[in-house]
Order: sequence, then structure tokens, then C-alpha cells
Amino acid sequence: MKLSDCHKIDDFRKLAKARLPFPVFDYIDGAADDELTKARNTRSYDSVDLVPDVLAGVEEIDTSCTILGRKSALPLLLSPTAVQRAFHWQGETAVAKAAEQFGLWFGISSLATRSIEEIAQLTSGPKMFQLYVHKDAGLNTHMIERCQAAKFDCIALTVDTIVSGKRERCLRSGFTTPPRFTPASIWSYATRPRWTLDYVLREKFRLPNLDTHVAEGSSKALSIADYFNTMLDTSMTWDTAAQIREQWGGTFVLKGVMSVADARRAVDMGADGIMISNHGGRQLDGSRAPFDQLEEIVQAVGGEIEIICDGGVRRGTHALKALCMGANAASGGRLYLYALAAAGQDGVTRALSILKDEIERGMKLMGVTNVEQLTKDRLRSRPVC
Ligand code: FNR
Ligand code: LAC
Repeated sequence: MKLSDCHKIDDFRKLAKARLPFPVFDYIDGAADDELTKARNTRSYDSVDLVPDVLAGVEEIDTSCTILGRKSALPLLLSPTAVQRAFHWQGETAVAKAAEQFGLWFGISSLATRSIEEIAQLTSGPKMFQLYVHKDAGLNTHMIERCQAAKFDCIALTVDTIVSGKRERCLRSGFTTPPRFTPASIWSYATRPRWTLDYVLREKFRLPNLDTHVAEGSSKALSIADYFNTMLDTSMTWDTAAQIREQWGGTFVLKGVMSVADARRAVDMGADGIMISNHGGRQLDGSRAPFDQLEEIVQAVGGEIEIICDGGVRRGTHALKALCMGANAASGGRLYLYALAAAGQDGVTRALSILKDEIERGMKLMGVTNVEQLTKDRLRSRPVC
């Protein structure tokens, strides 16, 4: 299988599986416990059907929209994800460039392998920084100040990762950051020489937004679970979120809101947006899918705050369904990560062009010429077995 054989997001997953050592692939693909929530995140989109209009004159359509005050060419945002240098040597650089090429928002993680400043140099396109609140308050302040100086457009505070989810594939594979070869996985690294040579010979793995303050994760290998459980501030509350918003002073999003009550509190605290998200099923397994929660959250706070439906998106029509249900945009991580892991920037470019094409085709077949026309009356729900 090669890149030109990839015609849908799941094809990139297959290619990534073939090209990556299993601990790295399983870190991307895996989720918490029985991975029920991860599966549900995608399947929930099958619980509604689209009702198209015909003869609507759709030769020219406009897929663009405004997300968090900046124009986006598609109603789709690339969610922040950690340690991309471990997936492909081009790391976040590839995603930033591809996002700029397609006119899309993207995010970098606190655990990014490119610095806030490097990313700001690379692109003037819309970009968010995802903040993990560390016990070391000096580190939090330092990251916020760096985002201010680099003129990031938004900070997304992740609120669903107070402790690590139970990622059983990572427990089995011993995946660490930086990646380490273990007796159980060495064969898998040896049989993926392209990844392994790129990892060993190209620029060194770093976490440059953290390594000013902590060695963990950069020069001291540990699992993501150990990182979360020892470094992050478990005592975080709404007051912490309000303080961070105030300190930052710019566009502010809470990532990982799932309940109507929390969405209301997000409005009350003055957040600009929420990402309805369960972290791609990597945290609380058995929690509801973002798309399943969307309707009640839209009913409660729609129009008062921007709503991004995050996770499970593998098709253009998934984004269209989220918009019909009232989201301002859809977002996702694996939809571009499999492609990054499989083939770097070329992979991400191909994945985004497929999603763009699917969104355009879907809108034409729905009989809509702009995203405002994607309304609830175009959806019907039905039970899924
Ligand atoms: C993530 N996600 C994530 N979220 C976050 O707030 N900070 C982070 O560092 C990461 N890192 C990360 C790594 C990997 C490998 C994955 C797959 C995901 C979660 C991410 O932002 C997003 O919420 C999910 O990816 C959404 O689910 P889908 O689109 O992957 O199904
Ligand atoms: C993850 C992180 C780093 O989901 O948020 O692995």
C-alpha cells in the first residue's frame, strides 16, 4: 500500500499501521479501557441521516465560515495533538504548513515537538495553543507569555485530562516520550527501518514548550500516563480556568466540555468557545460521544458561545452532520494524524484534500450553497444497533 492508494481517512490508518512501529501506532490509534467511547465517537454520526434537497443550483458553493474570529476555508479544525515528531520527523511543521495551504485552523499541544515561536514563524494562519495546566505555575505563565509574544490566536484549555485515561495499548507496548526501544518492541522498530532511521538520524526529539522548566518527556523518558499523573495540576477548578483566561486576555476555549451545565458555566465565565470532546476516547471510557451531546448543548447555549464538535470525524459528511446539528465547526486529531504518521506533509495534504472534496461534494449533493444552509431540518435521527 502507498500514499496514492489512500482515498479515505481509514486508508491512512492502514498505511500508518504498516509503516510505524507498533508502540507508536498504538499510541495514536489507541484509547482508554475498552475503547468503547472512541468507537462510539465515529459511530454516533450514523445515528442521523441527511435529507438532501435537489435541483438547487449548486455549481458554485462556498464552504467557508468564521471560527473564533478568523476565516476558515472549511468548517473543520485540526485539533491539537502531542509529540508529532514521534510520528513523523516533520512533526508539527507538516501540519502547520498543510493547515495554512488549506486555510484551516490548527492547534499545537503543550507537548508539541516544535516551539510556539517556530510555529508562529511558519504560518500566519489561524492557530491555537493547547494548554495543560502544570503543577509548576511558572511553567504555565511562561507558556502563556510565549503565546502572547508569538501572537497565537487562541488558547484552548484542556479540562478532561486531570489524570491520564487508562490506555491499555500503551501499558502493553511501553510507549514513552521520547520513544524508547524495549525488548518487547525492538523487532517492530527493526522491521520499520524508515521510521527508525528518521527517528535516530534526524533532529533530536524535544518538547520545547516544556523543557525550559522540566526534563520529563524531553530528556527523561516516561509514559504519557506518568507525565500526566505527576506533572499536571489535578486540583484545577473553574477559578483556575478564569485566572488563565484573564492572564491570557485573548480568545479562549475550553476543550473537553461535555455537559450542558459546564457549557453554561463556560458562557458565564466569558469563554469564546467550547470544544465538546472526550479527548478522542482516550480519557473516560464509557463517556458519551460529542456528537450525541451536541443537540442538548446547542439548545442550551447555541448562539452564546462557539461550539466545536471534536472527535470521531472521519468523513466530510460527519462535519456536515455536526453543522446541521448546530455546531459552528467540527474538529479532529486522528483525521490528520494517521496521514502525518504515514507520509508527513504529503500525507496531511492528501488527507485534507480528501476531506475538502468530501465536504464540497456532500454540500452539492445536499443542495446547499453555503454552510449556513446546513440546518437541523436536514437531519433525521434513527436508532443504531
Ligand atoms: C490527542 N489529543 C490531545 N488533546 C489535547 O488537548 N492535548 C494533547 O496533547 C492531545 N494529544 C493527543 C495525541 C493523540 C495521538 C491523539 C489521537 C489525540 C486529543 C485531540 O485533541 C482530539 O480531542 C481527539 O483527537 C479527537 O478525536 P479524534 O478526532 O482523534 O477521533
Ligand atoms: C494524549 C495527550 C498527550 O491524549 O493529550 O495522549
